Amino acid sequence: EKEAPKYVIGFSQCTGDDAWRRDMLRGMQRELAFHPEVDFLYRDAKGNSGKQVEQIKELLTSNINLLIVSPNEAEPITPVVEQAYQNGIPVVVVDRKTASSFYTAYVGGNNYEVGKTAGQYIGAYLHGKGKVVEITGLPTSSPSIERHKGFLDAIRNYPNIQVIRVIAGDWEKKIAKQKLTALFDSIKQADLVFAQNEVMALGTYEVWRERGISPRTKIVGIDGLAGPLGDIQMVHDGLIDATVLYPTGGEEAIRTAVQILEKKPFTKENILNTAVIDPTNVRMIKMQTDKILNQQEDIERQQKHNEEQLRVYNNQRILLYTISGL
Ligand code: FRU
Repeated sequence: EKEAPKYVIGFSQCTGDDAWRRDMLRGMQRELAFHPEVDFLYRDAKGNSGKQVEQIKELLTSNINLLIVSPNEAEPITPVVEQAYQNGIPVVVVDRKTASSFYTAYVGGNNYEVGKTAGQYIGAYLHGKGKVVEITGLPTSSPSIERHKGFLDAIRNYPNIQVIRVIAGDWEKKIAKQKLTALFDSIKQADLVFAQNEVMALGTYEVWRERGISPRTKIVGIDGLAGPLGDIQMVHDGLIDATVLYPTGGEEAIRTAVQILEKKPFTKENILNTAVIDPTNVRMIKMQTDKILNQQEDIERQQKHNEEQLRVYNNQRILLYTISGL
């Protein structure tokens, strides 16, 4: 018989519908496979902060032992997360933050650093001169605010670089494309578009392509996702000029959560590394990430196989007990 689970982890995801979030969840599931004692409850708020608050409340009444949360927007999600923390439920915040210091651990990139890295790269890439458009994420989400700040701090060192427009793309390709299209006449002279994530960088590429403008404006993104549809491939194929790595941290989040639950020492601030991916290193990075993806698929296949073997074994054991009357 399967032992009763020892722990229940609830994960409240702000939105689940993009490749970056799917990568995070896959990482969590791979790590969870090493912890059969953990039950995992997953809720996707689909980009709606009100819904996320409700889902967190529902998770808290489901007797979770620990909450993992990636807050859609900082302010609206803060009270319910603070309440959980103050009621003794450990909270692991991933990627996006609340507006409070009441949490047990954070796992994710340093978004100020990520924005600054992008800004430094852009400054050098434009030889210190040119017009730039920035497309931010959801302006009320923490990575958007921090990336913007880091970007501006870096760009300030280049007095001849002008940020001619800041557009809120809300992390969504569709919204970024609509706004770029509506504003196109006022931004078409931009030398470079800095898009704060992968999907908005792709959206930018598509807007220029749909208008048949060649060469397109230069494009720098953020995320650095592997795989055939990721922005590493986009840099490799020349759809965009560069991207800044922002790891999803799914495995690290589960590892930290388990350490907390097992009352082992853990790190409060788990800051994941960043790096620029551009044509000078993209072939090497693509080779490595392709290999990692293959290995991950092998692990997932192996895990499925093990589960199946365990099921067969248990059935046979039950059968044996029934026959032998043990
Ligand atoms: C995915 C995403 C990423 C971005 C992150 C910021 O939902 O938009 O592309 O880096 O969220 O929280």
